[in-house]
Amino acid sequence: MSHPQAERFREQARGCRNLGSRMYDGLLRRLADDLDAGGPSVAVLSGHEHDPGPSGLALRLLGSVHRLVLERRAGALAAFYPTVGGTWDPEHGWPVFRELLAEQPEAVREWLDRPPQTNDVGRSAALMTGLLEAGRRRPLPVRLFEIGSSGGLNLLVDRFRYVGKGGALGPDDAPVVLDPAWAGAPPPGVVPRVVERLGSDVMPIDVRSTEGRLALTAYVWPDQVARFERLRGAFRIASGTAYDVRRQAAGDFVDALTLQAGTTTVLWHSVLWQYVAVEERARILARLDELGAAADEDSPLLHLFAEPTRRTPDSPHEFLVCAHSWPGGGRRRILGTMAPHGLPVTVE
Ligand SMILES: C[S@@+](CC[C@H](N)C(=O)[O-])C[C@H]1O[C@@H](n2cnc3c(N)ncnc32)[C@H](O)[C@@H]1O
Repeated sequence: MSHPQAERFREQARGCRNLGSRMYDGLLRRLADDLDAGGPSVAVLSGHEHDPGPSGLALRLLGSVHRLVLERRAGALAAFYPTVGGTWDPEHGWPVFRELLAEQPEAVREWLDRPPQTNDVGRSAALMTGLLEAGRRRPLPVRLFEIGSSGGLNLLVDRFRYVGKGGALGPDDAPVVLDPAWAGAPPPGVVPRVVERLGSDVMPIDVRSTEGRLALTAYVWPDQVARFERLRGAFRIASGTAYDVRRQAAGDFVDALTLQAGTTTVLWHSVLWQYVAVEERARILARLDELGAAADEDSPLLHLFAEPTRRTPDSPHEFLVCAHSWPGGGRRRILGTMAPHGLPVTVE
């Protein structure tokens, strides 16, 4: 008899393949077969047979194993994980992965109840696209606010280096290099000075703690080494930059937002909207309209976001990079599209 989660694991395998992880595609297909065959994965997932699809059980399981690898608790499996210097090899890697499930089921179960949480620094390419435009329009410093910040790493946007066709911007020696940040040339504009950085999240991750860094790293797919390296570089920058991420729901955070003369107030979010209830979203947009009505040339407001959105009610979802700016009515402008993990941004 088929295991109730097997089909979901196959679906997640297709998702990982489409997003460029051959390792997780292969592992999840083998895990699905192992579930159907009554292998060791059945005991590991005991009690989770009927977890709903959106809870991402497959990614919770893989994140938990990756965490054991990163903590050097997974023995021989480390040799197959590129994030610790190994090389994935499906033929030899799968039996070792299966053995870990059989020998350490309790260790693997430790993180099964935890929601996978990521913070993709690549999405700063979308934020920088909007900031460059803001800098071109007005030479004002920026107060940067973010909702759904996770570890708040995208608040460090101006500390990264960005490479496009024929040009680059940002510090030469930045530990994070987004390459290619744009599918074409870097968009014209001026990087504004960021004078304040504050984020919020219902489950903030403290990247200055070992536990926080481990959590964000464990949910990166291990054969996506560039994503992993960006994260590690951002951890280094975070330790030397003043910023904070409050434990606060997005609606409450935006309610408390104010404008300040002589600065552009920017509210930014990426891949958050789908998690926010319809009423909370409406409240956020209403508060932005209210603030926008009070904005002027000396205290402008910019709402920037990169979210899976439709261009028109009938179009398919795309990761659109959009801006609403005030004064000027706050009409939505599409600045471009981005890849799901951020890079590259195609400017329109
Ligand atoms: C997919 S992650 C994206 C994180 C980050 N923005 C990025 O692009 O890397 C979504 C984040 O939104 C947070 N979140 C979900 N609902 C929220 C809410 N109502 N208010 C604030 N944060 C929320 C989650 O805890 C999670 O950290």
